[in-house]
Amino acid sequence: MTEPFVLEGIGELVTNDTGGEGPLGLLERAALVVEGDTVGWVGPRGDLPQRWSDARRIDLEGRSVIPGFVDAHTHLVFAGDRSDEFARRMRGESYQAIAAEGGGILATMAETRSAGFDCLVGLTRKRIERMLANGTTTIEIKSGYGLDVVSEVVMLRVAAAAADTLPVTLRRTFLGAHAVPPEYRHDRPGYVDLIVEEMLPACAPEADYCDVFVEDGAFNVEDARRIFDAASSYGLGARVHAEQLGHSGGAALAAEIGAASADHLDHATEEDAAALAASRTAAVLVPGASFQLRGSQAPGPMLWETGVTVALATDCNPGTSFVESMPFVVALGVVQMGLTVDQAVWAATRGGALALGLGDRGRLRPGDRADLVVLDAPSHRHLAYRPASPLVAAVIAGGIPTLEKPLPSA
Ligand code: NIG
Ligand code: FE
Repeated sequence: MTEPFVLEGIGELVTNDTGGEGPLGLLERAALVVEGDTVGWVGPRGDLPQRWSDARRIDLEGRSVIPGFVDAHTHLVFAGDRSDEFARRMRGESYQAIAAEGGGILATMAETRSAGFDCLVGLTRKRIERMLANGTTTIEIKSGYGLDVVSEVVMLRVAAAAADTLPVTLRRTFLGAHAVPPEYRHDRPGYVDLIVEEMLPACAPEADYCDVFVEDGAFNVEDARRIFDAASSYGLGARVHAEQLGHSGGAALAAEIGAASADHLDHATEEDAAALAASRTAAVLVPGASFQLRGSQAPGPMLWETGVTVALATDCNPGTSFVESMPFVVALGVVQMGLTVDQAVWAATRGGALALGLGDRGRLRPGDRADLVVLDAPSHRHLAYRPASPLVAAVIAGGIPTLEKPLPSA
C-alpha cells in the first residue's frame, strides 16, 4: 500500500456525494486524501484532520477534480477496419444497407474470428490504455463479434487478459445475440437454441451480464426473453440493446425482467421511460453512436425527468461509434442530447457506476475507490464547453497515479 497523500488546492471538486452543494456534491477549495486504494477523507482544505497533516501534499493550484469516468457500454474487442463503411455512410448510404451487403457486424465478426488471441489482446489493450488516458477507470466490455461458441468465449477471455495489468475495473457482458452469423442465416431460431444450449453454459463463467440486440433485423423480444431467462439461471444480469434504430420493445422487456440497463434508447417513448423508472432499470445512453450515424439522440432529458437513472457511455465499436473519450461523450450529451452539464457529468460517472451495480465507484466519499480525474480546467463545465481539448491532466485509479506525466504541480 502506498503512503497516503493529500490533493489540495482543488478549485472545484465533484464528489457526487449529495451531502455537498447541488446535484454533483460540489465542494470549492477542497482537499481529498487518498489512502491506499480508497478515498480517506474529503472536505474543505481548512478542515483536514490532524491525522493527515504530515502526509505528502500535492497542490493542484485550482484545477478541478471529478470521479473517474465509468464507461458502462463498450464493444472493445474487435479486429479489422471499417472506416470505408463510415465514409460510405457519410456519403449517404445507410447502416442497415451496408450491413445487408455483408458489411456491418458480420464484417467485424469475420476479422475477429480469424485474428489470434494475442492480436486481439494487443488491440483491446491499446484501446483501454487510450480510454484510461481520457479518464476512464471502469469499463464494461461486451463480446458479440465471435458469434460461435469458441469465438465468444475467446472474446470474453481477451477482455480479461487485456485489462489484466491495467488499473481499471472491468465488467464483462456476453453478447452472443448481437447478429445472426452466416451459418444460421436462414435459421435464427436455431441460432437462439445454440446460444441457450451451448454458448451460455460456455460463456457464463467468463461474464457478469448477458446482452441482446433487440432490433428489426437482429433479435425480437421473444428471442430475448428466452435468452435472458436462460442467462439468469447462470446468474447473469441483463442489459438490453433497445430502441436504437427503431422501436422494437426492448425497453419494455428490460423493465419487465428487471434488467440492470436498457441501452441506446434513441427511439424510447414516455411509456418506456415510466416503465424503466418503475423497475429501477438504468438507461445507458450513447450519444457517440447517434452522432456517427447522424441519427436522432436519445431523449436524455425526458428519461432523467421521469426518474430513470441515466448513464452516458461511449458504445466504442468499429461500426457506429469509434469513440474512446468520455469527455467527448459528455460534450455530446450536453450539446446534442440536451442534458445539462451537471447531469451529463453525473451520468458519465455515478450514473455509469449505478448502471453496473458498483456502489463505490463514480463518487468520491470516504471509503469509495480512489478513482479520480484531475482536469486542466477550473470547473467540470469545461468538459462540455471545450470539446476535444486535452483536459485530462492526471488520472488516479485505485489510488495510483496512472499517466506517465507526473501529477501537475504548475
Ligand atoms: O451498439 N447496435 C449494435 N451494436 C453496435 C454496433 C456494432 C457494429 O456496427 O459493429 C452498437 O451500435
Ligand atoms: Fe452497443
